[in-house]
Amino acid sequence: MEKRKKLSKRLNIIKLLLAALPTVAFGVFTIVFTLQQDASAKATREQDQQQADETNRRLIFKEYIDDMTDLLLSKRYDTNINESLLHIRVQTLTVLRNLDGARKSDVIRFLYESHLIHSNQPIKVHLNGSDLTGLKFIKSSAESCDLTDIYLPGVYGENILFEGCLLDRAVFDHAEMCGTVFQSCSLVNSTFLETNLTKAHFQDNQLFAAKFNGALLSHSSIKGGVLQGMDFTNADLYQSDIDHEVFYPLAHGGLIANIFINARHPNGSFFAIDTNDLIVDGQAQTKCNQSRTLSWLNALNDNPIEIINRSQIDLQDTSIVESDCVFRFDQNTFVYQAILLQSFSLLVDQKQALFNFSVLIGTKNPTVEDEISISMLFRQAEGSFDYKQRVIRSFKNISSFQLYSIVDAIPPKTAFLLISLGCKTVGSKDQWCFFDQAKLFVSKNTS
Ligand SMILES: *[C@@H]1O[C@H](CO)[C@@H](O)[C@H](O)[C@H]1NC(C)=O
Ligand SMILES: *[C@@H]1O[C@H](CO)[C@@H](O)[C@H](O)[C@H]1NC(C)=O
Ligand SMILES: *[C@@H]1O[C@H](CO)[C@@H](O)[C@H](O)[C@H]1NC(C)=O
Ligand SMILES: *[C@@H]1O[C@H](CO)[C@@H](O)[C@H](O)[C@H]1NC(C)=O
Ligand SMILES: *[C@@H]1O[C@H](CO)[C@@H](O)[C@H](O)[C@H]1NC(C)=O
Ligand SMILES: *[C@@H]1O[C@H](CO)[C@@H](O)[C@H](O)[C@H]1NC(C)=O
Ligand SMILES: *[C@@H]1O[C@H](CO)[C@@H](O)[C@H](O)[C@H]1NC(C)=O
Ligand SMILES: *[C@@H]1O[C@H](CO)[C@@H](O)[C@H](O)[C@H]1NC(C)=O
Ligand SMILES: *[C@@H]1O[C@H](CO)[C@@H](O)[C@H](O)[C@H]1NC(C)=O
Repeated sequence: MEKRKKLSKRLNIIKLLLAALPTVAFGVFTIVFTLQQDASAKATREQDQQQADETNRRLIFKEYIDDMTDLLLSKRYDTNINESLLHIRVQTLTVLRNLDGARKSDVIRFLYESHLIHSNQPIKVHLNGSDLTGLKFIKSSAESCDLTDIYLPGVYGENILFEGCLLDRAVFDHAEMCGTVFQSCSLVNSTFLETNLTKAHFQDNQLFAAKFNGALLSHSSIKGGVLQGMDFTNADLYQSDIDHEVFYPLAHGGLIANIFINARHPNGSFFAIDTNDLIVDGQAQTKCNQSRTLSWLNALNDNPIEIINRSQIDLQDTSIVESDCVFRFDQNTFVYQAILLQSFSLLVDQKQALFNFSVLIGTKNPTVEDEISISMLFRQAEGSFDYKQRVIRSFKNISSFQLYSIVDAIPPKTAFLLISLGCKTVGSKDQWCFFDQAKLFVSKNTS
């Protein structure tokens, strides 16, 4: 019984639905039709807009080329060369912002063929800061792609492609080119110093002696082609996909190894850290016959400091045989030297860098109250006045010429290490300080 009732109820509902069908169908038709009309109107509008944009771009491009041609042919071009180059830079930056990839390529080709962006020519337009998104250069049977010596430092853009191009000695330093594809190009002696090449693809290129110092190559790939004599100093290769040959070219019949000093390898490790002494002029005796050094300056007046023969000090301690000569600085003064840590930036920013500064210091006619200080100041930019981050050590009761050393971590973002030595004496007039054999090493923190 119950089952029947349910069945008939269901039938009734179906009948009702069938009766309503034409209406429903018509309603649906109306909605769909309206939607379609909307869509087609929108498509028409979009098409119109695209057409307008295209016309606009064509106009902008034409105006630009006309303007440039006039300028290059005019008399004032040569007589006011700096003004002309600035004019070209400003116009080019503006026009590049408003063009599509194909016309951007035409603009670059125009400038290149006008010899305005050649790295080996004294007169060139700086295109740093210009937007090259969508730039494409592809060699075809109809068109060659010779961009030898092209000079494009500091440009930025995504979806850039170079295929089959001659790019020997090209300069892409400091550019933001993440995801750029280089396919079958010749890039001999090209430079990518501190270039952002995250997710870039290098496929079958001639990369002999290409320089990637400080480049960001994380998640990139470098596969096939000639992969020798490259410099990856301080480059970030984290999680990149790189041919085994790049690490071991000699095992693959190569002749010249690639350099990976201070570089982060695909698995995140650092191997070869630069072990050179970073102090300039740390040993007075190498310049003993000169009376001054420009490498250490008096902090009060930026004057160079003196170099003297140790026989003038009457050092009792003869164990320091190497030090025939020493650097001399007066009481109540500081001397300093700034060390650029650029080639360690990756290690520093990964919080894995330690420094070890060591120096021999003494005072003439010492008293127990005399004080020598060593301060290491970590600066993010040259000339910055952020004095918060520093390590200072002071030493009193200096009876003889002694070795002092400071070992500590280098905070992330440090670009410069400012080393200063202070001489604070309280005794007689004939007091001053001297130092020698200053050394600074950076190493990987293994703890
Ligand atoms: C152009 O600028 C350079 C430095 O950028 C300068 O050496 C040169 O004298 C300037 N030339 C003219 C014509 O002003
Ligand atoms: C572009 O480079 C020139 C010369 O190297 C420099 O003077 C200028 O400040 C740079 N401009 C930008 C926006 O980076
Ligand atoms: C690359 O640089 C080396 C050394 O400066 C030079 O001998 C060689 O001719 C250069 N090759 C190209 C193609 O630029
Ligand atoms: C490099 O480019 C990537 C991708 O655009 C970006 O996420 C990253 O911040 C850039 N790195 C630097 C140091 O500018
Ligand atoms: C990282 O890779 C290198 C080879 O490039 C290898 O020698 C090293 O053991 C690896 N380190 C770790 C922690 O996996
Ligand atoms: C100082 O010595 C260096 C080599 O030790 C020498 O090349 C230089 O000519 C000397 N200068 C003077 C002024 O004697
Ligand atoms: C330092 O002075 C001593 C004694 O006057 C002299 O024998 C020596 O050659 C001098 N050293 C140098 C490096 O000039
Ligand atoms: C720091 O360098 C000095 C001199 O080169 C050396 O004697 C000392 O052992 C080093 N200290 C550390 C912790 O490596
Ligand atoms: C200074 O050092 C000497 C030995 O190096 C020591 O005998 C003396 O007590 C020290 N004086 C002070 C005030 O620390």
